[in-house]
Amino acid sequence: MTTATVDLIFEPIHKAQEGFLASEAPRLLFSGAFRAGKTVALCAKGLKLSLDYPGNFGVIARKVRSTLPQTTLKTFFEKVCPRELIADFNKSEGLVRLVNGSEIYFCGLDDPLKLGSLELGWAGIDEAIETVEDDWQMLEGRLNKPGVLHQLFAATNPGPPAHYLHRMFFTEGKGEVYHASSLDNPELPEDYIIRLGEFEGIYRERYVLGLWAGLEGLVYSSFDDKICLIPRFEIPKGWLVYSGHDFGTANPAALFYAQDTTTGFMYLNREYVPGSGRGIYDHVQQFKEITEGYNVIKRVGGSHQEDEIRQGYTSQGWVISEPKNNDRMYQIQKVQGLHRLNKVFVFNDLTNYIREKFSFAFKKDEGDVTEKIDNEARFHCMAAERYILSDFVPETVNSGKPRVKTPVWSF
Ligand SMILES: Nc1ncnc2c1ncn2[C@@H]1O[C@H](COP(=O)(O)OP(=O)(O)OP(=O)(O)O)[C@@H](O)[C@H]1O
Ligand SMILES: [Mg+2]
Repeated sequence: MTTATVDLIFEPIHKAQEGFLASEAPRLLFSGAFRAGKTVALCAKGLKLSLDYPGNFGVIARKVRSTLPQTTLKTFFEKVCPRELIADFNKSEGLVRLVNGSEIYFCGLDDPLKLGSLELGWAGIDEAIETVEDDWQMLEGRLNKPGVLHQLFAATNPGPPAHYLHRMFFTEGKGEVYHASSLDNPELPEDYIIRLGEFEGIYRERYVLGLWAGLEGLVYSSFDDKICLIPRFEIPKGWLVYSGHDFGTANPAALFYAQDTTTGFMYLNREYVPGSGRGIYDHVQQFKEITEGYNVIKRVGGSHQEDEIRQGYTSQGWVISEPKNNDRMYQIQKVQGLHRLNKVFVFNDLTNYIREKFSFAFKKDEGDVTEKIDNEARFHCMAAERYILSDFVPETVNSGKPRVKTPVWSF
């Protein structure tokens, strides 16, 4: 075994990274905002333990193995580990051997069999919000390599306070917590910081400030992002398409949902948020392009007063009908109900919609939640959504013997 001759060149960018690296606590959480330096800290900690204890064996894990190469592993090689420390890298196994004999295994928690018999000195989980308590406990049970400091640590964006990591670290105080916001990272480009400044509500609290924000006051707290925010896939041609429209010359918005005809589930697959400067004709050309090859069976949008605008779309060949029920709270409650049943799936690259969904909140008046929405006029996707989804009514059909009621959904 060779002893490393190169020291770790990592320089912490803020106190949170510094403390996280120096700590010898058995359990550690680095909880922070987007780009706060979490993954760099995680990789640097793993590398430090590998250098401090030659011959050590540790894992850097994510929930899903296939996500490692483009994220954590890339950061490890490009930002953290000097080339000269690496003796060998077995790409297919994800195993890095250092010149001092220590090994770091990059693995997914989606393959527990591979981890089942390892004898580890340390383990670090990146994006730990994706994991469940069983994953954590499984790693705890593997930290039994003799003669080294045993540490289990994680880096993550915050999530809801109900998450096991929040309970373990904040409620039960079972480990040390280090925290950083995006605004603490001096390495970030200025335009990125400006962009972050536009985040609002829970989205800002979690992803910019790095707080474990609850959903109090959030209109769509019943939207379960862990189940319903999903990776994009190609919508089958046979599915039916519905569009929802919010008018306005400065900020029009349209959403396109596809319905799986076998399950009735809705998939929000396109958002159209073009900004100002285009007219109805241009919008309609875009709508036709977006929906080409699909059967658009319903288009709904606007308030009762906006009939003239609907006529404008109709004359361009895009017939939009008025929502059946114009009551705003009725429409909102319909959408809430669909979320409660997890009937609406959303592709996770629809950034405008997602930002709005996580920041659309009822105003508070002396601590009490009202029915007014903070800055409602700015939530164009939320308006487009409730127009179309509130036309969606449940029907109940009997499916023969045994007599069970199966809800189906139709317009
Ligand atoms: N100690 C450091 N030294 C130099 N640059 C750093 C350091 N820490 C972070 N950075 C810079 O900041 C960027 C973001 O860091 P990192 O990827 O660790 O953030 P993150 O919190 O994991 O982000 P994400 O939310 O995207 O997962 C890095 O790509 C790197 O350029
Ligand atoms: Mg990261």
